[in-house]
Amino acid sequence: MGKLVIFNHPLMHQKLSIIRDEKTGTRDFREVVSEIAMLMAYEVTRDWETKDVDVKTPMGIAKCKVLAKEVVIVPILRAGLGMVDGINQLIPTAKVGHVGLYRDETTLEPHEYYAKFPPCITDAQVLVVDPMLATGGSAIHAIDVLKRRNVKNIAYVGLVGAPEGVSALQKAHPDVDIFLAALDEKLNEIGYIVPGLGDCGDRLFGTK
Ligand code: PRP
Ligand code: URA
Repeated sequence: MGKLVIFNHPLMHQKLSIIRDEKTGTRDFREVVSEIAMLMAYEVTRDWETKDVDVKTPMGIAKCKVLAKEVVIVPILRAGLGMVDGINQLIPTAKVGHVGLYRDETTLEPHEYYAKFPPCITDAQVLVVDPMLATGGSAIHAIDVLKRRNVKNIAYVGLVGAPEGVSALQKAHPDVDIFLAALDEKLNEIGYIVPGLGDCGDRLFGTK
């Protein structure tokens, strides 16, 4: 079974309190989602493989290490887009693939409307990013899409998860590590995370 990591850090708690607050407006919401994603990237990458390189300094040769694999960030549209810039700031060489999914409001089933990936994705270290892990349907579908393309190294990075979504994702993709800023109490009757932060896409893009 892959790792399940729930971040427990004072800065993360502080930033979560801002995005959970219903009074936080679009601009601050977007900025703090991005900051959380950046902080998470530092920890998510901790065990990544490195390779040795020699770097010429002004004084001699330094034995250095760099990331061994290409990195591809795959946001699940729309809300996953809010996490890309923060991670890209820490890993500027990362490429970005996109999976477009929306949840049917009644069935909660994900519907795919877009998929586009960089050619290097098969052997890359891939981070599927989406702020909300509710039923898990969207994350499972996005990872299915990647596995059908023979992508091998996949981790899921989300902000807020529900226990139902974590169980479903672990069952469907037991090899995938899951990183969440917070694990909440439950889903409500319409598939929203409680207490959660509401509709993340709408809050990021001001669509409600
Ligand atoms: C939200 C969210 C996730 C999904 C999570 O997207 O951003 O992608 O729901 O729910 P699930 O775990 O039950 O699948 P939504 O479908 O609302 O689309 P949007 O990002 O375009 O708003
Ligand atoms: N999608 C969201 O944006 N929020 C939830 O709580 C669940 C799914």
